[in-house]
Amino acid sequence: MNNFQYYNPVRIVFGEGQIKQLSDLVPTDARVLITYGGGSAQRTGTLDEVKNALSANSARQVFEFGGIEANPEFTTLLKAADMVNEHDIDFLLAVGGGSVIDGSKFVALISSLTEEDNKNIVSREQAWDALTSGCKKINSAIDLGTVLTIPATGSEMNSGGVINSSERQAKLPFGSPLVFPKFSILDPTKTLTLPERQVMNGVADAFVHVMEQYLTYPVNAKVQDAFAESLLKILIDEGRVVKNDPDNLETRKNIMWTATMALNGLIGTGVPQDWTTHMIGHELTSLHAIDHARTLTILLPSVMRELKDSKKDKLLQYARNVWNITATDQDDDAIIEKAIGYTENFFRELGLPVSLEDAELDKSAIEPIIKQLEAHKMVKLGEYGKNDLEVSRHILERAVSSKAS
Ligand code: NZQ
Ligand code: ZN
Repeated sequence: MNNFQYYNPVRIVFGEGQIKQLSDLVPTDARVLITYGGGSAQRTGTLDEVKNALSANSARQVFEFGGIEANPEFTTLLKAADMVNEHDIDFLLAVGGGSVIDGSKFVALISSLTEEDNKNIVSREQAWDALTSGCKKINSAIDLGTVLTIPATGSEMNSGGVINSSERQAKLPFGSPLVFPKFSILDPTKTLTLPERQVMNGVADAFVHVMEQYLTYPVNAKVQDAFAESLLKILIDEGRVVKNDPDNLETRKNIMWTATMALNGLIGTGVPQDWTTHMIGHELTSLHAIDHARTLTILLPSVMRELKDSKKDKLLQYARNVWNITATDQDDDAIIEKAIGYTENFFRELGLPVSLEDAELDKSAIEPIIKQLEAHKMVKLGEYGKNDLEVSRHILERAVSSKAS
């Protein structure tokens, strides 16, 4: 196991009916901006529940900013940041999924980057420069809390995010310890209104988050490996249950907590990490507006096949400990291909794409993605930093059509 420091200050408030805790969690004299997405927070009644909780026992001033897109847009977030300055906001409350939470983290970071001659307007150039350097150089942020409505990204308990710019055809990651949420409320009943598509996306995103931190090479990290393997098995079991029994609240609870644990830093401590699937996936989303999680299920099997030599030890461990493939009469390659096939079939069971063709794309999609990867300096990916554009091209070529199941 490699050296590491682990720090995660997020208070998690888990369970049915916990939104009312907001009256204790948000400072009573705060000037709060509630941020939310395209409409689900209103439709499901969650926004009203949040506003009622904030109005209890307080002198809080509450403002709202809605319309943060799925795959949050840089230009929309600039407007939210201007609203922070206009109303002198000192607390952001994100109500939604990864897009609203990531967008709000970004707003919390860029609000101080104002124009020289107008302290209410955020400088577009400074904000873009900040994003292209991952927001690492920003040294202040507005406090933020979240009410999670879709288990998927783990953004509710981490310090990262991803922002899209359609005009620049870029979807860029950022991160700063300043934007760990002060708290996140995880009420599993709020996920019951999710369309099946989003429930499946969430299971798949969480699954691939685990794989990015697990399927690399062994460093004798027994805790991280055992924890990661358990999270994968829970997602396989509960993903199958929720597909057939969407109202099963106990299953929803387990999926919600698993997705949070998949990307709150714990299983990623002291171990090598890959993230090739995610970096190529971001370009697929930004060029073709494919849901984030679906870009991952398209790419992961091909990443596993293309990199099976360098990932051999962990692929065999994954086959044994996650899929129970313990046959001794088969050679390593057969065992590995079986585990990759089981993974692909699991994604298919959830109704998720496993090839570019499943997303109505063909090999002509490959070169524009390679160009974007180069433009975004995504040229040394993976746990060894060796996955160059040629490797990414091979991965995409493998992903054009899926192997027969
Ligand atoms: O916009 P609204 O109307 O709220 O609808 C949303 C959206 O259309 C809807 N939804 C959310 N909660 C709902 C609901 N509909 C009904 N009932 C509810 N309770 O679901 C749709 C998808 O929402 P979104 O927030 O986009 O989904 P998700 O949580 O999967 O977030 C995806 C974004 O997170 C980023 C992705 O790149 C993508 O932009 N990621 C963030 C990460 C992080 N911060 O650590 C890591 C991930 O790898 C990922 O990159
Ligand atoms: Zn993801």
